[in-house]
Amino acid sequence: MKIIPIAIFLMAASVYAGAPEGKASFASKCQGCHGANGEGKASIAKMFSVTMHPLGSKEIQTKPDADLKKTITEGHGKMKPVGGLDDKQVADVIAFVRTLKE
Ligand code: HEC
Repeated sequence: MKIIPIAIFLMAASVYAGAPEGKASFASKCQGCHGANGEGKASIAKMFSVTMHPLGSKEIQTKPDADLKKTITEGHGKMKPVGGLDDKQVADVIAFVRTLKE
């Protein structure tokens, strides 16, 4: 039964494709508010008076990519849309967010 490990590898490879590029965009576009590991900065949460879920948390990770994309491109609650990212860069940032753990 060699098929299962190969299938798992292919799934992991497709999920994480783009994550290294996404990390760079995340660092310049998201990290200032969400922190290097998506943990969320207390000062930002306080400024917006919101609870910022760590991006690696179950609350965020259970959202489909389409929701994360919408948050980035259209904003969500107190978060304003993030400009300056093309479609691929948004997809790469989402791939990076998928690698985050709480
Ligand atoms: C200016 C600060 C700021 C920047 C920059 C920022 N965010 Fe946010 N983000 C927030 C705040 C504040 C919230 C909480 C919003 C709320 O709950 O009203 C949030 C919420 C989120 C959420 C959770 C939305 C939900 O459904 O609960 C995700 C996912 C997210 N941000 C991803 C990103 C990504 C990815 C980037 C970079 C492309 C980014 N954010 C850039 C401030 C920021």
